[in-house]
Amino acid sequence: MKVEKVKQSRWNKDSWRNTEFGSVFSDHMFVVKYKDGQWQKGEIKPYGTINILPSLHSLHYGQSIFEGMKAYKGPKDETFLFRPDQNAKRFNKSAARMCMPEIPEDLFLEGLYELLKLDEKWIPKEASSALYIRPFMFASSNFIKANPSDEYTFIIITCPVQAYYKGEVHVKVESNFTRAAAGGTGAAKAAGNYGASFYPAKKAQENGFQQLIWTDGNHHQFIEESGTMNIFFRRKNELVTPPLSDSILPGITRDSLIKLAEHHGIPCVQEKIGLESLVLAHKSGNITEAFGAGTAATVASINSITYKEEKLSFEVNDDGFANKLKTELQDIQYGRTEDPFGWRITV
Ligand code: COI
Repeated sequence: MKVEKVKQSRWNKDSWRNTEFGSVFSDHMFVVKYKDGQWQKGEIKPYGTINILPSLHSLHYGQSIFEGMKAYKGPKDETFLFRPDQNAKRFNKSAARMCMPEIPEDLFLEGLYELLKLDEKWIPKEASSALYIRPFMFASSNFIKANPSDEYTFIIITCPVQAYYKGEVHVKVESNFTRAAAGGTGAAKAAGNYGASFYPAKKAQENGFQQLIWTDGNHHQFIEESGTMNIFFRRKNELVTPPLSDSILPGITRDSLIKLAEHHGIPCVQEKIGLESLVLAHKSGNITEAFGAGTAATVASINSITYKEEKLSFEVNDDGFANKLKTELQDIQYGRTEDPFGWRITV
């Protein structure tokens, strides 16, 4: 692999702190192009501008997908990744859905490992900070006909980050706009899914909510996701989360929490969660906790969910399921405990 290093590193141990999540980027990026029906040689080069023309296919038709991953520093300064093969696999599922070429898993991971070795100093050392990794691919042909592109560019950039959500999380049930419809692209990490969510999310923020609860596109009766995360509830001594479908992202944090909970004797039921039954279960005291799960936020407790005129408040405390699972998960991710699942990969 060709590697062109920066002449002068921009690394500064503090410059990224207290900045917007993901707005300071490490020195290098990994780039590989797809053309003439095959992947070319990958290269690492200084993070910087990419040349594009106004006819760039992805700007017009949105063939663009991404992943979210993190690299963590362990107690002995090791660099860890968490289930990176799962991100590579999900990336290729997104690619298939968006009619884009799959990238060989080895190429994805090799580029990532080389990049992390080179930019290792950018991985924050303190607990709850990490290096966020953003692999993405976009259509890079230059033509306007509404056909799939025949050239693509895959890039990995990274950025040191702190917590995604700071403070309380109050969300509102979205009963008008739809994030993902049955048969749509909701289960893929397609850029457009996120772009389309900004307007409803902004409206919710104007009304004092941090995020939205997305509901099914048919009748807005069933809970699907929370903001950019999967969602879990505590019902007595079990967890409940909506089952995967073509409108729900198959979260790697979601899958890990289900396995982790079951490992600790907490059953996790995957069932459709109707809004009316949520309100009743909350009223009767059967549902006491709610939290979101995703790579960027890890586990984010939800303080309240507003549905129509009702505000359902949830417990957020240190001995709740959310905090217990978050601690267990992060202990594995940061190498503070044994990893019985084989999820932690040393780079
Ligand atoms: C992640 O959790 O990694 C996501 O993809 C959310 C992102 C949009 C910040």
